[in-house]
Parts: sequence; C-alpha cells; structure tokens
Amino acid sequence: MKPNINDKEYRGAMGRLLVMYTQVDYLIMRACAERIATVPDEEAQLSMAKQVGDESRHVRIQQQWIKNFGADTTPVFSELQQAMFLQHFRSLNWIDFLTDMYVCIEALGGEAVEQIVPMADPGTRESLKVPLQDEIDHVAFGLGRLKQELSALPEAERYTYIESISSRLDFLDDSLHDMGLDIPGMFKAVGADYQCVVDSVMQRRQEILESFALPVAA
Ligand SMILES: [Fe+2]
Ligand SMILES: [Fe+2]
Repeated sequence: MKPNINDKEYRGAMGRLLVMYTQVDYLIMRACAERIATVPDEEAQLSMAKQVGDESRHVRIQQQWIKNFGADTTPVFSELQQAMFLQHFRSLNWIDFLTDMYVCIEALGGEAVEQIVPMADPGTRESLKVPLQDEIDHVAFGLGRLKQELSALPEAERYTYIESISSRLDFLDDSLHDMGLDIPGMFKAVGADYQCVVDSVMQRRQEILESFALPVAA
C-alpha cells in the first residue's frame, strides 16, 4: 500500500533513508578517491575519477533535497562506522575492492534504492533521478572490470573466487544489519514490502554471479 507522503512516519523514515544514502555516496566518493592512486591502469583511473565527481554531485543534490524535505540531518552512520567503512575499503586488494564496492554497494545497494523509488514522494523521486542515472555507469564499470579481472585468473582460481563472493556479500550485509539500524522498519514505513526488496536484491545478486561464470565476450 502506498503510504501517505504527509504522514509523520513516512517523512521520518524517508528522511533517515535519504541521510543514509547521502552518507553512503559520500563514503564511496572518499574510498574511490583514495583508491585512484593505486589502481592497475589509466582506464580504471579515468572511470573512478568520473565516479568521484558523480558522487560529489549526488551528495550535493541530496543534501539540498534533505534540507527542502525538512528531514532530521543527524547522521545515520556514526564517525566510527564511517571510519570503519573507509578502513575496510583501504584494506582490500583490487579484486576484493571491485566486489565489495561494485557488486555489493553499487549494484545491490542501488537495486534496493530502486525498489523504494516508486513509493517515494515526487520531490524525493526527482532528487534520485540524476544519482540513479549515474549509478548505471558505476555499476557497468565495476562489474565489467571485475569480470575482466576474473577472466585473467586460472580457471580453478576463478571459480573459487566466484564461490567466495557470496560469503563476502553476506559479511557486508551482516555488518549493515549489525549497525543497529531498523532497515526493515524504515522500508515498511515508506511503503516498501521488505521481503519483496530482499527478493529482488537476491535475484540481482544471482544474475550477477551467474554472469561472472560466463566467458568474457570478445
Ligand atoms: Fe551515487
Ligand atoms: Fe555510485
């Protein structure tokens, strides 16, 4: 059922989701900016530099919208949680970075956001237009690049890695749920059926994993 967008509960939960989304974009921007110096080649550098610019723009758009929406701007993620996020990405080798950043955060996180959009009020929908359009580029770069790196591995190693992706994703998902956020509650308050969101994220995840097992198109 579509929520009443003037409802206090809806506005509170959407406000929290907007702040969370903006914080994640900001952290992605920071993590990618740090990584640019050590990526394997210029192609990756150029794509990630574009992404850093895009995320910065998303943060600005969202901050402006959060203000107009009148949401509580208290951060969802604490200073410590933000530092842990950056430390996590800093500690990863290139292939794990691609998995965690682009499969987990960009592709699957983006899928969850996409599920919210149809329920959202017109202003929120509008504010997500540019960000969600740019995310398509980020996902295309990250998944394409990960596929390329995987195809360069010996076959046995490639399959072992693909198998390990699920546990990496589960770990990140558990970390998010361990942060004490009532994500199902927030989704419900903005009119999304949490189980439907989870199902569509899991389906996307399955499709991505299956695509990695296929040979890279010439
Ligand atoms: Fe973004
Ligand atoms: Fe992005």
